[in-house]
Amino acid sequence: MKIIEPSLIHDWDKEPCGKEVTVSTKLYKDAKDFYESVDESLHDDTVMYEVYSVSSQSEPGKLNWGLTVMHPVKVNGECNMTRGHFHENMDCEEYYWCSKGTGLLMLMDEEGKCWCEKMYEGSLHHIRSDWAHRLINTGDTYLKVVACWPADAGHDYARIEHSGFTYRVYCEGKDIIVKERRTNE
Ligand code: PA5
Ligand code: NI
Repeated sequence: MKIIEPSLIHDWDKEPCGKEVTVSTKLYKDAKDFYESVDESLHDDTVMYEVYSVSSQSEPGKLNWGLTVMHPVKVNGECNMTRGHFHENMDCEEYYWCSKGTGLLMLMDEEGKCWCEKMYEGSLHHIRSDWAHRLINTGDTYLKVVACWPADAGHDYARIEHSGFTYRVYCEGKDIIVKERRTNE
């Protein structure tokens, strides 16, 4: 019997490593429309988040692994967040595990009801297949979230743009302020 080295390493405090790992970076210029207003003090090339992924071919039964690193950035006081999505394949669930930092996992069902789960080191989140999900960094450190999801889940962003999350999250000092979105947005 052979005993071999793993092809991937994911130190809980770092990003996954191995030749299968890819990384994509979200810059402020590509995230401006997530926020209530444009923050002129932020450079277009400010890094908002990185997503490290180990992706399989999009086939039923296969799994993807990933890490999202949310930078501690505020946009006119609004907390840094991911674009957020439903899965294209509405049969696909997902797990999120917070390895560092503090934040909120915003969830929304198909009727548009929106709520949040608190995220902190060790919190584990089972995302139902019919829930849209968005990460929000409410802290002043990096928020790191490990994810595992079916390779055939896909990301449906259009649906979020059409009828998005109904709340916005801001930080004022240590206070988290939640505001309902204006209906004309
Ligand atoms: O699969 C997931 O849910 C995550 O890996 C997200 O894609 C990641 O957090 C980035 O979020 P979004 O795809 O909404 O920009
Ligand atoms: Ni997802």
